Amino acid sequence: MLSGKRILLIITGSIAAYKSLELIRLLTKAGASVEAALTPGGKQFVTPLSVETLTGKKAHIEMWDDDAYEMNHIELSRSADLVIVAPATADFIAKVSRGEGDDLASTLMLAKNKPAIFAPSMNVEMWENPAFQRNLKTIESDGATVVSPKVDALACGEFGIGKMAEPETLFEATQQHFALATSLEGKRAIVTSGGTIERIDAVRYISNFSSGKQGNAIAIALAKSGAHVTLVSGLNSEVSASHPNLNRLSVESAEDMHQAVHESLPADIFVGCAAVCDFKVSNASDRKTKKAEGLNLTFEENPDIVASVGQLPKEQRPSAVVGFAAETENLIENAQDKRRRKGCDLVVANNVQSGAVFGQQSNTASFVSESGVQDLETMSKERLGQEIASWIASHLQD
Ligand code: PMT
Repeated sequence: MLSGKRILLIITGSIAAYKSLELIRLLTKAGASVEAALTPGGKQFVTPLSVETLTGKKAHIEMWDDDAYEMNHIELSRSADLVIVAPATADFIAKVSRGEGDDLASTLMLAKNKPAIFAPSMNVEMWENPAFQRNLKTIESDGATVVSPKVDALACGEFGIGKMAEPETLFEATQQHFALATSLEGKRAIVTSGGTIERIDAVRYISNFSSGKQGNAIAIALAKSGAHVTLVSGLNSEVSASHPNLNRLSVESAEDMHQAVHESLPADIFVGCAAVCDFKVSNASDRKTKKAEGLNLTFEENPDIVASVGQLPKEQRPSAVVGFAAETENLIENAQDKRRRKGCDLVVANNVQSGAVFGQQSNTASFVSESGVQDLETMSKERLGQEIASWIASHLQD
């Protein structure tokens, strides 16, 4: 899978730099061609000679060196299929998030037009610093894949999150990147995300606890797999996904979401992850209801968006229709029933008892399809997004 792939490895100044040497070995053994650039800090931890011995190529350090006429930063970033930053220090991530280019490595990131994987490495306090977390979110929403560090004893003597992922983990992330990268090239996808809101009066509404994290992660995974994605997202989404392949539409009510989805068709892929309010208030008021008047609400059913897409005639129906099932009991039975009733190829079943999943970073889900039930381990919402994108890619190939 990595044979013939060209990888640009950027090594920044952290003790974990020694692990990058093992990463080079794994990548080259698998047939990839690796070229490396070191920041001045990176050069303090591993020698250019070690890097050159393992890559078989010159290690790049200076912006203006002997072959400066080739415009190093442009040339190096253009000729790679993938950029890996390992280890990625807090300082380097801050620079990339701001779009600064004051040395070769940061300028390469600025000039690159290729996907990038970052392997952060730092002290636990630095990792948890809100300013750093903001920078990390910025690079993620600019399209970077972040392979999270581990919780362990750190080189500084403290214990906590911050130890760079092992070379084997980064190698797997690289393989997964190339497996996904083109799997959905040219496909059109629609993803619903977040919660809808249903107005009661001029100032009040009914909604639910969906943060939009899971739906956004799916949209990003599909975009990274090459699909052109329309993300139809509830207004109260906590997060806003961004990727060059992604177009976001914000909507308020279930009816607005239903309309936006149908106006975005045709598509090859539809994923309904939104927590759509099943009912709307049929006697909603345009003015603010006074407390003394009391609230006497009546409800009527909203359209079922997933069912309206899953049950389209064959020539209009997306080839992959994925729904969710958020249940507090009889998870699998209810998910199987929803799959049949709503015309889905796959239902992602998640147990939301006691506030689980809503607003959390991780999810524990089962895939319910025609071929049976597959229980997945607990994983980040980003990783579940990738698993769903992989399932869709193989479903479209069948
Ligand atoms: O947003 P997060 O905080 O990350 O939380 C993620 C999540 C819990 C919202 C997500 O993982 C999830 O379970 N989404 C589905 C929520 C839901 O409404 O489930 P449901 O079992 O009530 O609905 C079944 C399916 O029908 C869902 O795909 C839903 O989008 C769809 N539906 C429901 C009602 C309706 N009127 N139209 C629909 O399309």
